[in-house]
Amino acid sequence: QPGIACDIVVFGGTGDLALRKLLPALYYLHREGHLHADTRILALARRNESNQGYRHWVRRQVSQYLAPGDFSDTVWSGFAERLDYLSLDVSQRVEFPRLARQLGQQPGRVRVFYLATLPNLFAATARHLASVGLADEQARIVLEKPLGESLPTAARINDEIGEYFSESRVFRIDHYLGKEAVQNLLALRFGNALFEPLWRNAHIEHVQISVLETVGVENRGDYYDRAGAMRDMVQNHLLQLLCLVAMEAPVHFEPEAVRNEKLKILEALRPITGMDVQDVTVRGQYAAGKRAGEELPAYYFEKSVDHDSNTETFVALKVEIDNWRWAGVPFYLRTGKRLAQRKSEIIIQFKSVPHRLFAQGHETPTENRLVIRLQPDESIRLSLMAKSPGRGMTLQPVDLDLNFAKAFKKRRWDAYERLLLDVIQGDATLFMRRDEIEAAWRWIDPILTGWQDCYRSPKPYASGSWGPDAANSLVERLGHQWFETDA
Ligand code: BG6
Repeated sequence: QPGIACDIVVFGGTGDLALRKLLPALYYLHREGHLHADTRILALARRNESNQGYRHWVRRQVSQYLAPGDFSDTVWSGFAERLDYLSLDVSQRVEFPRLARQLGQQPGRVRVFYLATLPNLFAATARHLASVGLADEQARIVLEKPLGESLPTAARINDEIGEYFSESRVFRIDHYLGKEAVQNLLALRFGNALFEPLWRNAHIEHVQISVLETVGVENRGDYYDRAGAMRDMVQNHLLQLLCLVAMEAPVHFEPEAVRNEKLKILEALRPITGMDVQDVTVRGQYAAGKRAGEELPAYYFEKSVDHDSNTETFVALKVEIDNWRWAGVPFYLRTGKRLAQRKSEIIIQFKSVPHRLFAQGHETPTENRLVIRLQPDESIRLSLMAKSPGRGMTLQPVDLDLNFAKAFKKRRWDAYERLLLDVIQGDATLFMRRDEIEAAWRWIDPILTGWQDCYRSPKPYASGSWGPDAANSLVERLGHQWFETDA
C-alpha cells in the first residue's frame, strides 16, 4: 500500500491553480498508484455545487490539462470516487464546523490543507481551521506564492500562520523546486566530482539565469498588475534558482541542512538600493507586437490592467554575491512575459584558458560554457573547444549534449506531483522556510523602493522580442552577452 492515508483539502477548488495543476497532479498520482487507497480529496470553494456537479465539471476541465492521451474514463472514475466538494466561504468562521464534520473525528490522520487562494485569506483560514480543532499535530498547511508583497506583509502572514501551525507543518511552495530539471541541478553539482572544484570565482566568468515566457498575463491581470514580474517571479523562482546554483554543499539532503545553505546565499546578496537601481536593474513592459503572424496587444490593454500601468512584465538584474566563493562573479537574472521564446536556462560561463596555443576564428568563443536547460525540454549541454577536422590546429566549439527525455524514457513528473507527495510524507526539503522567504523580501524591498523613487516607468519592448535593449546594455558593460541558444 503506497504512502500514507490522508485527507487533501484544497481551498480554492474552482480556481485556476486547482484545475490546471493540483487536480491533474493528483490524477497522475492516483493513476500511478502513489495515493493510498484511503486518501480522500476535498475541494472547497464558495460556489454552490453538488459533489456530482463538481466532479462532472472538473472532469471536463482537468482532461484538457493532461498530456494528450493521458485521460482515461476508467482512471477518472476511480479518481472521482476520492473527490468530494464542499461549498464554503473561508472568510466565515461559522462555516468551519461543517468542514470539521465532513472530515470527521479521526485522531492521528494526516491532513493537508492546501491554500490555493489569495494570500489575504491565509491567516483567516488558519485561524478558522484551528477554531474547530483542525490544526492538530498531524495537520499540514501549504501556502502558495506570492507570500505577501513586501517584508512586513510576508512577516505578518508568517506570524499569523505561526500562531496555529508550527514551522515544521508549514509548507511554502515554490513550484520551481519541484521541477525535475531543478533537482537535476543539485544532482549535477553534488552527485558528480567533475564540476564542483571549478564551481567558483577562480574559474567562472559569469552566470546567467533566464526564465523567459511567451504568454502574457492571461486572465490574471487583477493580481499581476499589483505584483509585477519582480514579486511574481524574481522574489521566488529566480532567487531559488540562484540559491541552488550558488549554495555550498549541504551536509545532508534534508530540510534544515539544505535550507540553511540557501539562506546563507540570500543573506550574502549585495543590496541594491537607491540610485543603484538605474545601473544594475532593468524594468520593462510589453508593448504591442507580433509573433508568428499573430498581433499581440500591449500590456496596458490586457483585461483588468490599468491603462496607465507602470507595472513591469520584464526584469533583468546584475546580482553580486558577497562571499568567498562568488566575489567578483556577476549573476545576471532575467525574466519576462511575451518574449520571443519560452525558455528557462541557467548558463555557467567559464573563464578562458590562461594562454592560447591554437588558432581560432576571430569571432569564435573560446570559453567553456555549461547550459542547463530547465524547460521546455530538459538538457545539459557542455560546450567544449575541439579541433576542426583537417590540416592545422584550428579550434571550434562543439557540444556534449545530454537530453533527459532521451536518456530516461520515463514520463516527466510535473512539479506539483512531486511536491504534493512530499507534503503528504512531511518532507519540507523542497519548500521555503520562513527565514528564507523573509531574507528574499529583505533584499527585494529596497529595489522596489528604488524603482518608486527613481525608475518609475518601465521600458517598453515589443511583444515577441527578447525584451528591452537596456537588458543588453546591462550585460555588455562588462563585455558579456545574453546567450540565445535555440536548439
Ligand atoms: C508562476 C507565476 O509562479 O509561474 C506565473 O505566477 C508564471 O506568472 C509561472 O507564468 C511560470 O511557471 P512555469 O512552470 O510555467 O515556468
